[in-house]
Amino acid sequence: MTATDRAALKQQAGAFAADLVQSGMIVGLGTGSTAIHATRRIAQRLRNGELRNIRAMPTSRATEAAASELRIPLVSFADTQRIDMTIDGADEVDPGLNLIKGGGGALLREKIVAQSSDRFVIVVDDSKLSSRLGSRFAVPVEVVEFGWQAQARYLEALGAKVSLRLDDSQRYRTDQGNFILDCDFGPIADVAALALKMEARAGIVEHGLFLGMAQQVVVASPADIRTLPATSK
Ligand code: A5P
Repeated sequence: MTATDRAALKQQAGAFAADLVQSGMIVGLGTGSTAIHATRRIAQRLRNGELRNIRAMPTSRATEAAASELRIPLVSFADTQRIDMTIDGADEVDPGLNLIKGGGGALLREKIVAQSSDRFVIVVDDSKLSSRLGSRFAVPVEVVEFGWQAQARYLEALGAKVSLRLDDSQRYRTDQGNFILDCDFGPIADVAALALKMEARAGIVEHGLFLGMAQQVVVASPADIRTLPATSK
């Protein structure tokens, strides 16, 4: 499949999820090359009058800039406690709808927004589906700069091959100014146990395992668009 074909699938998944948004909702806007299509489609529906009274919570500075440019009214946690629906991408999705996220480095804000959302909808193309998390993608782990080498060693002791994320040969910084350690665990036998071990460690701000959080995954493939779990809509 060409990159253009893959991009078309991302567009279809994003647009499909954006059509689930209803007037009056507070919507969480995800980050990445798939979620941006949902953001664009929401803006289009606002412009053509199909949607009214939408307010949006961006999950990164990049998404905030895109939404502002598209003239989507924004909201912050100072103004609201709950978000009706968040639409976001993922790097890997298992059959239980557990996710790896954070390829774009926005995992912390994405998890904060997802945890405040009544409905968390994931948009992916079919290359993101996996029988076991870790098979296709390294787990991004956000760490504070102080002592990051100690966290790298801790993650290695948990079984990961660890790389400090770089951006144009500089150390990549998240929106919070932290580092990302990309942790290649290979297929992960017990994601819940691994998540707990990472959460127990000072210096690890957040990890990219999103377990039991997604209610629905929109999957675009060359054959069709389907939603998981298959029975819900
Ligand atoms: C951003 O930090 C990520 O969680 C993205 O949602 C994820 O990496 C998927 O991105 P793409 O849609 O660009 O593949």
